[in-house]
Amino acid sequence: MPTPTLPQPQETAVKNALSTLEHMWREVGTETRTQTGNLIAIVAPDNLEMIEGALLELPRRVASRQIIGVLDECDCVTLRVGLLEVHGQMLERLTLSGNAEQLQGAILPLLAGEVLTTLWWTRVTELPPRGKVFDTLAEVADQVVADTLSVNLSEKAPYALADIAWSRTAPWRELTCQLFDEPEALEHLFRLERVTVSYAQGRRGDQAARFYAAWLASKLGWNTLSRVTLEGVNSTVVVPGEICAVELWTAEESFRLEAEENGVAQLEVKLPGGWRVSRVPFPHRSLTWQLTFAMEAPEHNALYEAALKIARDSRMQVQKFSSAEDLGRAAADLFALELQKAVLERGVFHVALSGGSTPVHLYRALREKSLAWDAVRWYWSDERCVDPGSSQSNYKLAWDELLSYLGVNPAQVFRMEGELEPESAARRYHEVLPDRLDLCYLGMGDDGHTASLFPETEALKAVERVVANFVPKLKASRITLGFAEINRARNVHILATGDKKAEVLLEVKNKSGKYPIERVERPLWLLDEAAARLL
Ligand code: 6PG
Repeated sequence: MPTPTLPQPQETAVKNALSTLEHMWREVGTETRTQTGNLIAIVAPDNLEMIEGALLELPRRVASRQIIGVLDECDCVTLRVGLLEVHGQMLERLTLSGNAEQLQGAILPLLAGEVLTTLWWTRVTELPPRGKVFDTLAEVADQVVADTLSVNLSEKAPYALADIAWSRTAPWRELTCQLFDEPEALEHLFRLERVTVSYAQGRRGDQAARFYAAWLASKLGWNTLSRVTLEGVNSTVVVPGEICAVELWTAEESFRLEAEENGVAQLEVKLPGGWRVSRVPFPHRSLTWQLTFAMEAPEHNALYEAALKIARDSRMQVQKFSSAEDLGRAAADLFALELQKAVLERGVFHVALSGGSTPVHLYRALREKSLAWDAVRWYWSDERCVDPGSSQSNYKLAWDELLSYLGVNPAQVFRMEGELEPESAARRYHEVLPDRLDLCYLGMGDDGHTASLFPETEALKAVERVVANFVPKLKASRITLGFAEINRARNVHILATGDKKAEVLLEVKNKSGKYPIERVERPLWLLDEAAARLL
């Protein structure tokens, strides 16, 4: 049946939108029609065109009503209503512009009833998927498609989660399965030792590459991405954010998958007995395909959830602040949250304070708070081998800037005895440590050391909970928690400020493997803008 001439899209008020749509359907002579679903897409103005283009191809079966919310600063809503024809099928398109509050109020009454609703919080909005507007729209959604790596959308949410970055891994996961379907390759699968995933660098970041790596890790029984390198490259074959090649190594063999022009991929297998190259069809998948894949989720979500956990844990969790004082205040708020949780769950809060100068901002903010100080047990992540009265003493800094203000009971304070012989101070401290720290504070030196775990020192190899560590470049010993103890802590917060740390932090982000601090698992980084400037 020929497609009727579509009425011109119309600007209208929100309250007249649905009657205007009714009128348009009558105009095209369609009395009855079924709704298949709502798709709400929240976009930034400079990406409207790309998203509109992707939605032009979106099959009606996944959403018969498309509502595009363009986030701008305007505090009054403009709305355009129209009908679209997609592959011979008609669907409704409503495009609104306005600021967050305006959009939130205007979109809800426009939803078609009794059908599934998907909220697509596109990656390019400056507003991450959290906060009032997101929560209000997510509340009516059956599914949320968003950047689930950057923002911790709880798995307990009443909506299904999906991520376009995960959809982008689908062709590569298929290709990898294809490669290891070959018996000569399969026998090497579980002997893989390291993987490099190359992606086209650009504004979409490394999410798809990180998801793919996490999927492979979950298949190989690896809990972290410690054996994976994510490599941003300039690609002419794929668009920014897409994977362009994967290389997998065992001790002797290597396997390479690479996207080429014209929708093919090259598979290269190098075995001791020889190597072979083959080419397979590898069609480029459009944003529409990726969104449809995310919305229809044709595969069991367990795959995605397993990869999401590993991928999320592998990312550098960073909070940036405009000043060291702001950082200190935010760190104090997080302290209060963790204290509250620990007291609720266990009645006591074991926290290890770090050394260096940066914690002073935390101390000054904490002493302004009235918290359950009686429930706190104070420890240190490291200490200099000096008297507790020395200006070099980490204990003294904490006492002068915090503990003396709180009137804490000395029985709650477990300082490292820097005045003793380091080995025995370490042994004695081993005895006073709790089973597990609730919160361990660390700093980072310009050389990438943390606590007193300095590059090329013995303590890096130590397995003990507390270590006496001689640091040649300081010509002095230190007492420090070992990595095992730090990584046993329920939470690790790393506070770092200053421009001099920026280069090292970038290398840490890119998993250079060069710095002791990279062995701290899943820390939360609290950085000032100077330190975070390259991230
Ligand atoms: C110490 C520390 C050390 C410190 C870093 C950062 O005792 O020196 O524990 O690991 O955290 O050197 O120090 P700043 O905060 O002064 O930059």
